[in-house]
Order: sequence, then C-alpha cells, then structure tokens
Amino acid sequence: MNFATPRSSLRPAAVQGLPAGFRWGVATSSYQIEGAAREDGRTPSIWDTFCRVPGAVHNGEHGDVACDHYHRMPQDVELIAGLGVDTYRFSLAWPRIQPGGRGPANPKGLDFYKRLVDELQDKGVTPWITLYHWDLPQELEDAGGWPVRDTALRFADYAMLAYEALGDRVEHWTTLNEPWCSAMLGYAHGAHAPGRTDLGDAMAAVHHLLLGHGLAARRIRRAALAHGNPLELGITLNLGTATPETDSAADREACRRADGMGTRLYLDPVVHGRYPEDTLADLAAQGIGLPVQDGDLEAIATPLDVLGVNFYRGALFSGVTEDGSPTDADGLPAVRVVERDLPRTAMDWEITPGELTRLLVRLQRDYALPTVVTENGAAFDDTVAADGSVPDAGRTAYLADHIAAVAAARAGGADVRGYFAWSLMDNFEWAYGYDKRFGIVRVDYDTQERTLKDSAKWYRDTIRLTRDAR
Ligand code: NOJ
Repeated sequence: MNFATPRSSLRPAAVQGLPAGFRWGVATSSYQIEGAAREDGRTPSIWDTFCRVPGAVHNGEHGDVACDHYHRMPQDVELIAGLGVDTYRFSLAWPRIQPGGRGPANPKGLDFYKRLVDELQDKGVTPWITLYHWDLPQELEDAGGWPVRDTALRFADYAMLAYEALGDRVEHWTTLNEPWCSAMLGYAHGAHAPGRTDLGDAMAAVHHLLLGHGLAARRIRRAALAHGNPLELGITLNLGTATPETDSAADREACRRADGMGTRLYLDPVVHGRYPEDTLADLAAQGIGLPVQDGDLEAIATPLDVLGVNFYRGALFSGVTEDGSPTDADGLPAVRVVERDLPRTAMDWEITPGELTRLLVRLQRDYALPTVVTENGAAFDDTVAADGSVPDAGRTAYLADHIAAVAAARAGGADVRGYFAWSLMDNFEWAYGYDKRFGIVRVDYDTQERTLKDSAKWYRDTIRLTRDAR
C-alpha cells in the first residue's frame, strides 16, 4: 500500500486564509449510493444497462442496491449532520424524476428528494443539487444519447421539472457533473456508460452537454427571478493541470493540446461564449467539427454564479512517445502522460496537492468566477482494525494537504468559497465497482453498516476547529 506522508497537519493557522463563510461539505451522487433501482417508477439509466455488459464493470457489479441510501436516507442525513458540515452535495436521478426522460414528472421520484431536502434543512445542512451525474435515462440513449441535439432539449425540460419542485427551497444548483467524463469516457473511450468509442460522437456529446447546461441554466435563472428565489447556479468540471516534462516545444505543445481538450473546451464556451480556436483546429485536422447552431453559444454562456471544481490530480506531459516518436499510433501529435515518482492513491493516481493551488489561481486569472471545490478525495485500501476503527491515515493526509492547498490558493488571490470531500461514504465507483473506497465513512456492503473512518473524525474536528479559530 502506498500512503502519502502528511506534509502538513491542519492547524488553525493553515486555514486562517479561509473566510468566515467558507463552506464545508461532503458529496455523493445518485447512482453511486441510492440503490432501489426499480422502485417507485424509476426506469433504467445508461449505467443500469452498461453494468450488465460483460467485462464493463469490475466483477460485474452494479448500483441495484449500492449503499441502499434510498431506504436509509434519514439515518444518512443524521450521519452528515454529525460531521458538522454546512453543505451536502448530491445529485438527482433523472430516471426517477422523469422516467424515460420525457413527459411529466413522477411524483414519487420527486417526493424522495423533497424528503431529503426536508431532512437536511431540519438538521441545518444546506442542500446542493447536481442535476446530472451521469444517469441518463436509457430511452434517451436509445434515441441517440448526448451526440444528438434533442438530448440537450430533454435535459432542459427535466431540469425545469426538478427546479419547479425544489427551487423554492434549494438555492444551490449545479447543472452537470464532469461533462468531460460523460463525453470522453462514455462516447470516445468506452470506459463509462454507454460504452461507445467514436471521437466524433464524443465531440457532438460535448456540445450537446454544454447546450443542455446552457438551456437549463437560462430557464432556471428566469424561473428563479420570476419566483423571487435566491439562486446560486453553476456547473462542475473535472479539472487538472498540465505541466510540460521539459521546456521543449513538443512538451509545451502536448500541454496546450491537453489543456484545450480537458479544460478550455468546456470553460471557454461556458464563461466566454466561444470554443478555443486552437482546439477546434486540432479537431478539424482529424475531420471533426462541433455541431454548433446559431444562438447555441449565447445559451451556453448564460451567466453563472459559481464554478464547481472537481480535483484529484495534475499531470506531467510529454510531446513524444516512449520510443521517442513525435506522433502516436494514430499518426497524431503525441500527448503522453509521464508517470512521476510520487505517492499514489489506490486508483494509482499521483498525489499532487500543490497543483490544486496552481489550478485554482489559474482559474481565477482566466475565468474570474468564484469557485467551490465540489469534489476532492482519495481511494485507499482501507482495513478495519480489531477495535472496529478504520485508521485511514493516507486519506487524512490527502484531505489535509488539499485543504491547505485551497488556503494557499486563496492567499494567491483565488476566490475559493468552499470544499466538499468526495465522498461522504464508500460507494459504487463506476467501472471499478465497489472495490475502490473513496468514503470518509466506511460502508459494510453485507450489513449496510456505516462506520466513521479516522479521516471523517479528523474532518469533523477540523471543521469545528476552523469555526472556533474564527
Ligand atoms: C468524479 C466523479 O464525479 C465521481 O462520481 C467519482 O466517484 C469520483 N470522481 C472518483 O473517481
């Protein structure tokens, strides 16, 4: 096992840069925790289907039961409140709220989330809703999925069903979680549902995801204004940093390409209303264009209040392949991630807290939106000690170092307003199934028992300490 060495234990001094209203949270998503896959009118999502494809998910696992959160929600909310967090970020399951992805809302689906919001607010925890965390209704995939334009229109309709039901009580709304993953892992790499492998389809998916975001954002904004609801509206992106291995032109070019495809392709249209020219040219050279129609970019650039940042790691890039070639097997300019000799998590992801600081400062410079770290955390191969405790020192160090990195980013001028640990509890880690545990709370999947890991106790104490230090 490969534990990180704590570079900083979190003393109040380390968080002094965090302002009084700094928002502390924990995060989850619907398919990863809810279970109850066939209850109360929910129809299958692309993940229910994908999990049945032989070899698609580790051990053929699926989210039919997951953490059984659908049936254990009140106790889970108590757990959340006990951590002392201000905020709980969760996602709504589209196929629960609008089975099949079209038509009227399913009252039973909405009812679950109304009860969840009630429970949270009763306990003083602020709900933070993500509308789409990857569980597209299967019927919409059958009709073409995100590569077709109609899916964007369907998403905006679904978003309004949710907003009309919950917008009077919920202020914080995120349209999409990590559209890069939906498009690239889902339609180009085939690693996530729906498991397709065509870069052209993936790029059409990028545009339609962003269009869906923009149309939903515009309608939610109008409705909030009409109803006089307070609203903090955003999108959550998975962002990293791209560092050249050397100062060579090839390595810097690899970083430009990686940054274009991973960051600017999303943020430039959302914030500035235009796709990055250089990335469009890279795609055009492969015969790929984006299906942009008149008015799309105006919708996509609907003003936002906050940018959600999911950060796990930064990467070092080389512009030559391992055998020294400037082009890859497809004849395209090489963009190669160079493995570094750094501590790693159980996902084999490098631990790079300093790069979170660099990312947040760069986002401030280039996009000037307030940010919230809507996900950050680590999987480790936890073990349960004889006394039942879960001494996950590696995860605590990861969290401490990244929270200190957020404080450093603030000191460097970044307007970072909150930090949410991923995840509240162990859950279904997509293609990795239940093997990879990201929770600060352990879930025993045989008994559904929840146990605070040492990292959860540390997080709780840190939040308390930070409040006391103010
Ligand atoms: C980002 C995703 O939003 C979340 O669903 C996933 O579990 C974590 N990354 C960890 O991989």
